[in-house]
Amino acid sequence: MKFQASKGTSDVLPGESPDWQYVESVIRRQAERFGFKEIRTPIFEETALFVKGTGDTTDIVQKEMYTFTDKGNRSITLRPEGTPPVVRALLEHNLLKEIPLAKVYYLAPMFRYERPQAGRMRQHTQFGAEIVGSAAPQADVEVIALLFFTLQELGLAGLKLRLNTLGCPKCRPQYREKLVEYLKPKLSDLCEFCNERFSRNPLRVLDCKIDQHKFDDAPEMDQFLCPECKGHFQSVQNDLKTIGIPFALDKKLVRGLDYYTRTAFEVVSEHLGAQDALGGGGRYDGLVEELGGDPTPGVGFGSGLERYLLAMKNQGVKFPEVKRTDYFIATLGNEAKARGMEICTRLRLKGCLCEQELLDRSLKAQVREANRLNARYVIILGEDEIKKGVATIKDMDGHSQTEVPLGELVEKILGTAKQ
Ligand code: HAM
Repeated sequence: MKFQASKGTSDVLPGESPDWQYVESVIRRQAERFGFKEIRTPIFEETALFVKGTGDTTDIVQKEMYTFTDKGNRSITLRPEGTPPVVRALLEHNLLKEIPLAKVYYLAPMFRYERPQAGRMRQHTQFGAEIVGSAAPQADVEVIALLFFTLQELGLAGLKLRLNTLGCPKCRPQYREKLVEYLKPKLSDLCEFCNERFSRNPLRVLDCKIDQHKFDDAPEMDQFLCPECKGHFQSVQNDLKTIGIPFALDKKLVRGLDYYTRTAFEVVSEHLGAQDALGGGGRYDGLVEELGGDPTPGVGFGSGLERYLLAMKNQGVKFPEVKRTDYFIATLGNEAKARGMEICTRLRLKGCLCEQELLDRSLKAQVREANRLNARYVIILGEDEIKKGVATIKDMDGHSQTEVPLGELVEKILGTAKQ
């Protein structure tokens, strides 16, 4: 029987992992520059955390969670998104008590039982960041800037920031009421998803990919915003302009999670297909309280690394060269292998990237292998060399060869040979 990776999951093979490591290193550097510290939470949590945090009217909780009962009869869920676990961890460890502000980021796998397609996986990797404790519009702009400038730093072009406000518990209910009034008579003409969303969360009907064009005359949140929400949204827009991040207002951007209040945003790429959101997020001023903490505002984003890599490849972004092998030690015979092992180890301990022959190939085949690995030098220890007590150093770029006495080899290579 042949096994395959589960549907909607993928392997990152050795040939691809340098690209991932590059993207991750840029992300970590950016997050550090913005003053975010890494947080790592477990891959699974109590199911109730997501039902309450992500929200029981969301697609994630209704249809997409990997939930199982463990041997202790607890209901466990593989993390579908990062925000509730981060809030849970901050509360559990009292991290908001002394300084009531936390800025954290995560690079972590998420699990959602979705229908797989390009850019939509059942296991995907998110770079997310959260600012918990600040209600300032500058906090919204800080997380948007972290996402936007990280994508730019990776060489992605054709980025679009879509921005909206969803109001707050003070002003949203009036809007919701008007929207329900508007949608109700249209329901028979709308798709099954719209009908389903209408009963769970009517605002999300506006987000429907199929019927969105039918809502051009829908009532708009704008007219219902309270002065505080209006002022907040204006400040966010002003600051985005000040720091040069272009955006487009999108009144239909609702986002698929229950906890959002005020700002909601998405960064999309024109180099992706249907799943074009590289990242998205917003403000969640009620979530901390919902999960048992004191009323505390929060704002953040999540973004999918698989989509970053897809967009970078589609756009032809150049990834950095893989670090080349410094030395390949080619050996023939037992004595040569023993000396080769010793040389290889000494060079590695001094920081060189060194490979030795592990397949008993001919010297010619070993040099070919060194060439495939793009090695800078091959150190040849054949039968002749061992007899003469030397090693041949072959310069793979200059195509020259020199013989060096074995006793001086490592020192010579490391440039510490006594003159
Ligand atoms: P989300 O929009 O559900 O938000 O996911 C964030 C990003 O993760 C998406 O924009 C997309 O790039 C990526 N993503 C989501 N699902 C998949 C999938 N099945 N396959 C590949 N990539 C995917 C959240 O998760 C919120 N926790 C974001 C947030 C943080 N809001 C505030 N703080």
